[in-house]
This record gives sequence, C-alpha cells and structure tokens, in this order.
Amino acid sequence: MASTSQAPSSGARTAHPDHLGHVIFIAAAAAMGGFLFGYDSSVINGAVEAIRDRYDVGSAVLAQVIAIALIGCAIGAATAGRIADRIGRIRCMQIAAVLFTVSAVGSALPFALWDLAMWRVIGGFAIGMASVIGPAYIAEVSPPAYRGRLGSFQQAAIVVGIAVSQLVNWGLLNAAGGDQRGELMGLEAWQVMLGVMVIPAVLYGLLSFAIPESPRFLISVGKREKAKQILEEVEGRDVDFDARIAEIEHAMHREEKASFKELLGGSFFFKPIVWIGIGLSVFQQFVGINVAFYYSSTLWQSVGVDPTDSFFYSFTTSIINIVGTVIAMIFVDRVGRKPLALIGSVGMVIGLALEAWAFSFDLVDGKLPATQGWVALIAAHVFVLFFALSWGVVVWVFLGEMFPNRIRAAALGVAASAQWIANWAITASFPSLADWNLSGTYVIYTVFAALSIPFVLKFVKETKGKALEEMG
Ligand code: GLC
Repeated sequence: MASTSQAPSSGARTAHPDHLGHVIFIAAAAAMGGFLFGYDSSVINGAVEAIRDRYDVGSAVLAQVIAIALIGCAIGAATAGRIADRIGRIRCMQIAAVLFTVSAVGSALPFALWDLAMWRVIGGFAIGMASVIGPAYIAEVSPPAYRGRLGSFQQAAIVVGIAVSQLVNWGLLNAAGGDQRGELMGLEAWQVMLGVMVIPAVLYGLLSFAIPESPRFLISVGKREKAKQILEEVEGRDVDFDARIAEIEHAMHREEKASFKELLGGSFFFKPIVWIGIGLSVFQQFVGINVAFYYSSTLWQSVGVDPTDSFFYSFTTSIINIVGTVIAMIFVDRVGRKPLALIGSVGMVIGLALEAWAFSFDLVDGKLPATQGWVALIAAHVFVLFFALSWGVVVWVFLGEMFPNRIRAAALGVAASAQWIANWAITASFPSLADWNLSGTYVIYTVFAALSIPFVLKFVKETKGKALEEMG
C-alpha cells in the first residue's frame, strides 16, 4: 500500500451512472457462472434416490459419489487463477462453459456409476473455476463505487441457481408421477434434471463472447490501448484514462508477474493476506451453511414435516436466502463489508445457538416436542437470513477485491479452493456428527460463528470504495 500511495490519482472512486447499464450487463453475464455453481451443486439432491436405486449402492458409496464433485471444485478453483492469468478471464469462462456443458450431457447419460462420478468431478472442476473467475472478473471491471453491489451479483446468481434447481427438480418429479426414475422424454426424470443444465451452460458460453476482457488482465499482458478502450466503456468518458492506466501499471509492475511463489511472499507460508482470504472462506463454510441446504429434509422431518412436503420447505429456505442476499446488495456499498459481516455473525450465533438448544431435547417418535420444533424451524431460518445478508455475499465480494492486482487470480484460487475443501469437510462429516449428537453439532457451528467476530475485527480490512490498486 505504501508504494501505491505515490501512484497518480485519477478519481477512481467516482461513479459513472451513464455507463452503469452496460456494467450491470457485463457483471450479470459473468455471474452466469455463479448461477451454474448454485444450480449444479444443488441439483443432485433431486437425483440421489434414483441413483441409489439404479446402481444399487449403499449410503456410504452414494455419499462419496456426491462428495467427490466437491473435490473437483477445489481442484478447479486452485487452477483457475493460473489459467486466468495466462490466457485471460474470458477464455477461462469459455473453458468453464464447455466443461459445464460436457458434464451436463455426460451426467445425464452415464453408462455406469464410475462414469457418472467422473462427469460430476468435471462439472465440479467447472464450478470451481466459475467460483474464482466470476468474483475476480467482476471486481476488475467494476467502478469502485459500485463494486460491492456488482460483486454481489455472483452470490445472487448462486442463490437463484439453488432455487431454480429446486423448482426444476420439483416440476420434473411431478411430471414423472412423483418417481425420480419415472419416464420423461425417453429418459428417467433424474437424468433430465442433470441434463437441463446444458441450457444455462451454453448461455454462459455465448454471453462470454459479448463481454470485454478485464482491463487489468490486458494491462498485465501489455495491451494498453485495448485496456484503455474497455476502461472508457465501463468507467465513462470523463476520466483521465492515461492516469488510470498508469496507476494500474504502477501497482502491477512493482513486482514481477504473479506466480505461485509470490503468494508465499518469499517464505514457506502464504502471505498474511492470503491467509485472511483462506480464513474468510473457512469461516463461511464452518458455520454449517450447506448443512442447511444439503440436509434440510433431516431438519424438516424432525419437526414433523412429511418427507414428501420437504421440497416446499426447502424452497422456503431458498426464498429467505434470496431475500437476505437482496438486503446485502442494498447495503454492501453503503455500510461496507465489515459491518455487514459482523451483524451477520451475531445473527448466526443466535440462530445456531437456538438450534443447538432445541435439538438438545429428546426426539419422540423421531420428532422434537412442539415448542422446540418451532424454535428449531424459526432458528434455522434466522440463521439462513443472517448468513445470506452477510457472509454469503461479503466473502465472495471480499475475495474478488481484497488482493493486490498481480496476485488476485492466484490468491483467490487458493482461498476458493480452501472454501471447497471446507465445504466438503462439513458436508461429509455432518451425518456422523449428527449421529453422535445433533445438538453438539450445532454447538460446534455456533462456536465458529462466534469466532468469526474477533477474526473480522482483528484481521479483515474494509475494502468499500477503495480502488483495486490500493489493496494489499
Ligand atoms: C455461498 C457459499 C456456498 C453456499 C451458498 C448458499 O455462496 O459459498 O457454499 O452454498 O452461499 O447461499
């Protein structure tokens, strides 16, 4: 930061509403990767029973087939940064779009279980790539005054993707007479669920041709004039672009090009800023958010909901998730990322602690007593609402913008990869933890939500309104 303070000032913080429509389109197109991320990671829930039945596998094998996609996500995230730095952000999106398409077709028409698992890993790889490229690209093309809001398009697209996959699964299941293996268009319903993803995947690929390459990437490969033209497109005409470019170059060329070694800052361990990114990712997952999505039927059934109605209730959770995300989008550039994260942590502690309390009572006939049942239900929604209006959005926005230009894509790749590993650890451990003690499991998530408060206060720097060249 110290050295960037001598960089020419160019009024980077000024907003340019005349170009906002165009920038919104660009951010929305890039966020299609987020939609696929949400859709693909949640669509499998509607197909699990059919896969178990068709391939005649037990729960343990089935859980592995599902969880393995998350490992694909971690590898995709870890490699996306390098690919994006080498061939550009747009090409990286195009590779992800092709992989999403191939994985949708392959998963819908598998020959055997191993082949299905392989297509899911390839889809996971694409999700991992999209989880890195979306936030990085959007941060790099957005004017600073709107960067938080535009960056939240990624999370908004993820939550809409989750909700749409639930609706599609429900619609297809009904059309197939309530049987995941029921016939639909010459296939079984679950195959159609997985195959439908071809539509957003192709759309993502097509949209990527309609949006410009990141000006910061172009500058890093010496394409100054092209970068200038794109900056004009996204930031308006009344800016001194030579000064803007000089500012970006100044920040970028202080050191050699990004390499993995640079993330290490010359030592064996990652630089502190990379650890902060990893910390944000891990806390986002260790509060147990995906348990609320992936295992929602366990919760509903324990409060007495009929399993066949659990779709409807899971969809309610998705709606609350969307509402929270919209609240975050309104406030992220007004109050800043840090205050939102802190408010969210407090709300999550309350929701999770109440769930822990409710589940400390004995189940009678597999159900909680009435009062505790209601408390568990409301508390779960309080938790999802506070997650959505804070950590859901804020972490992806932070990860997109908190790293200095030259290490952004690579550092974001490491942080996102840590997030997928943390997601896998929580998702894979939940069934055994729940068998051990459900209340105790929620106590663990509550502790992580509580610890996130001192973590944010001590380590995380506010990024609201700052130019990307001031990060680091
Ligand atoms: C965030 C998390 C993701 C989770 C989603 C739920 O995007 O990274 O793991 O599924 O929020 O809304």
